[in-house]
Amino acid sequence: MERLLENKICIITGAAQGIGREIAKRFAEDGAVVYACDRQELDDSKIQEFEDLKIHYLSFDLTDAAATKAAMMQVFKAEGRIDVLVNNAGVVFNRKIGMILREETELMFRINVIAVLELIQLVSRLMARNGGGSIVNIASVTAVLGSPGQVAYSATKGAIIALTKSAAKELAPQGIRVNAVAPGIVKTERFAELYEVNGEKIDSRISRIALGRLGTPEDIANACSFLASDRASYISGHVLGVDGCASI
Ligand SMILES: NC(=O)c1ccc[n+]([C@@H]2O[C@H](COP(=O)([O-])OP(=O)(O)OC[C@H]3O[C@@H](n4cnc5c(N)ncnc54)[C@H](O)[C@@H]3O)[C@@H](O)[C@H]2O)c1
Repeated sequence: MERLLENKICIITGAAQGIGREIAKRFAEDGAVVYACDRQELDDSKIQEFEDLKIHYLSFDLTDAAATKAAMMQVFKAEGRIDVLVNNAGVVFNRKIGMILREETELMFRINVIAVLELIQLVSRLMARNGGGSIVNIASVTAVLGSPGQVAYSATKGAIIALTKSAAKELAPQGIRVNAVAPGIVKTERFAELYEVNGEKIDSRISRIALGRLGTPEDIANACSFLASDRASYISGHVLGVDGCASI
C-alpha cells in the first residue's frame, strides 16, 4: 500500500525537538523526503536518529530572512519542488497580564507570526511553480479556549488561525491548501520545564480534558501527516483541534 506522504518534499520548522521532531519522524516514516529545520545545532544522538530515518537537517534562525531564503532555495534547487510546509517553530513566555514584558511579546510575534507569514510568502511562490502544495500551521488550543497567563502567547496563535483562513482563500487558485492544527497540552521537553514542577496544576488541567490524558507529540504528528497528504485534498482553511476534547 502506498504510504501517505510517499516522495513528498516536506519542510518542517522547529524540528530539533518536541512536536516538530515527531512530525519529522512521522513524515519520514510516511515516505516523505523531510527537511527538518531549526536554529539549534543537533547533538550526536539526534544526528544519528535523523540519519537513520533519512531526514535532512538545516540549521538557521527563522528571524534571519536571508538565511531562511537561502535554505528554501537550497531545498528547491536540490529537489526541484516543495510539496509541504509545516510551520511548527514557536516560542512561549507565560505571564499574567500585569507582568507581561514588551520584549517577550515582540519576540513571540516575530517568531510565531511574522516568520510564519514570511515563510508562507516565500514557499507558496515555490509551491505554485509545481502546481500547488499543502501548508500546515501549528496554532494552539489557547487561541480557541483562552488560558490565564497566556494572553500574549494566545494572541500570536489567534493570529495564526486568522492568517490560515485568509491564506487558504488567497492561495487556493494556485492549488495550495492551508490548514492549522491546534494542539491541547502536549507532553514535550518544553512541557516538562513548564509544568512538571507542579503536579497539582497538571492534574486539574487533565480533569478538564474529556479523553482523560495529555496529548503526545505523536497525536499532533498524525494530524499533520493527514492534513499534508492528498487524502485531505478537499480540506483547506480548517483548524483541527487535537486536544482530547478539552474545555476551559
Ligand atoms: N507543547 C505544547 O503543549 C503545545 C501546545 C500547543 C501548541 N504548541 C505549539 O507547538 C509548536 C511546537 O511546540 P513544542 O512544545 O514542541 O516546542 P519546543 O520549544 O519544544 O520546540 C520548538 C522548536 O522551535 C525551534 N525554534 C524556536 N524559535 C526558532 C527560530 N527563531 N528559528 C528556528 N527554530 C526556532 C526551537 O529551537 C525548538 O526546537 C509551537 O508552535 C508551540 O507553540 C505546543
